[in-house]
Amino acid sequence: MSCKTTATNIFVLMTNQFYINQYKKLTLIIFTICAVGLIIFTCAQTFFANSYLFNFRTELKTLPKLEEIKHEDYSIRPKIRHRFHRYPHTSRYLPQCIIIGVRKGGTGALIHFLDIHPNIAIASTEVHFFDNNYKRGLNWYRKRMPYSFPNQITIEKTPAYFVKKHVPESVKKMNQSIKLLLIVREPVERTISDYTQIWGKLVRNSSYPTFEELAIDPATKIVKPSFAATERSLYDKHMANWLKYFNLSQIHIVDGDNFRRNPFQEIVEIEKFLHLEHKISEKDYYFDPDKKFYCIKGFINRCLPDSKGRQHVKVQEYVKTKLRKFFRPHNEMFFKMISRRFENW
Ligand SMILES: *[C@@H]1O[C@H](CO)[C@@H](O)[C@H](O)[C@H]1NC(C)=O
Ligand SMILES: *[C@@H]1O[C@H](CO)[C@@H](O)[C@H](O)[C@H]1NC(C)=O
Ligand SMILES: *[C@@H]1O[C@H](CO)[C@@H](O)[C@H](O)[C@H]1NC(C)=O
Repeated sequence: MSCKTTATNIFVLMTNQFYINQYKKLTLIIFTICAVGLIIFTCAQTFFANSYLFNFRTELKTLPKLEEIKHEDYSIRPKIRHRFHRYPHTSRYLPQCIIIGVRKGGTGALIHFLDIHPNIAIASTEVHFFDNNYKRGLNWYRKRMPYSFPNQITIEKTPAYFVKKHVPESVKKMNQSIKLLLIVREPVERTISDYTQIWGKLVRNSSYPTFEELAIDPATKIVKPSFAATERSLYDKHMANWLKYFNLSQIHIVDGDNFRRNPFQEIVEIEKFLHLEHKISEKDYYFDPDKKFYCIKGFINRCLPDSKGRQHVKVQEYVKTKLRKFFRPHNEMFFKMISRRFENW
């Protein structure tokens, strides 16, 4: 309809223009080129919008409820997120929940699971707003969020937030009653995994220092607390910083080691914490023996990228023992802070 109207208007304009400027051929040529361009553009838009809506309506008929779209058919998701033809009544909202860490704790897997809940909308990448882009302002942050329905909770994850000193204060400034998710795992394994990620990126450069060299002072044989991977595993230190600004009741702690074995146990707790109906269950997944992880069943099966769950470097047992001893008092402090223990740490 709009295509036809535009075309007619332009045609009328063109003929008028022709009589007025009979001799100004150049004007006419330029005008014609612009008009044709505009007609093609409008028609193309109309055509694609209709075909999109047509598809969308057909799909809707087969689905019981709008809010079930995400849950029932994963493949419709990109259309909801589409830049021009986003679903009506959706907007971008600041996150009401943030996954703040820990790095290598399983944050990627966690958000991968939460994503299929119909009342959750996730940011597709780590936004790094509070650590690297804070000066750009809240509106910039909001624009990095997905379009969502008012009854959905927007979740962002940036694991670096947990260890950055100034982040909690800024988060509180945005929303003091925000909900925070923290997934932790046994600190020695986390530290090795952290190193593995950096090392893996360096294309296994053999001249890159080994884990032992970085973690243990070669002269004194004492654990180096200054090694970044080790420092990031001092959960007590970082948690204390968050608890200066937030009540413990606002921070839900996920047991990352249990999450690997029994993801659905941990997911149920998160659904409760977010006051959401229980929707994410085992029947939406299958266990992939090659990837050793759960993948989402659907129109197109979705697994985590292959870089996840990569092999750890081999670390000698005496180094692990030293680290375990080093972390013990920090773990005890952390347990006290959160009024909860993790066995086998
Ligand atoms: C702040 O977070 C809470 C908890 O998620 C949420 O209910 C509330 O709507 C948020 N406020 C704003 C302004 O986003
Ligand atoms: C390996 O690491 C060393 C020291 O960081 C660097 O000088 C060298 O260029 C690296 N080599 C490769 C192939 O990346
Ligand atoms: C923690 O909760 C109490 C009562 O629920 C409230 O008065 C207090 O302001 C909260 N503290 C923070 C840091 O949000």
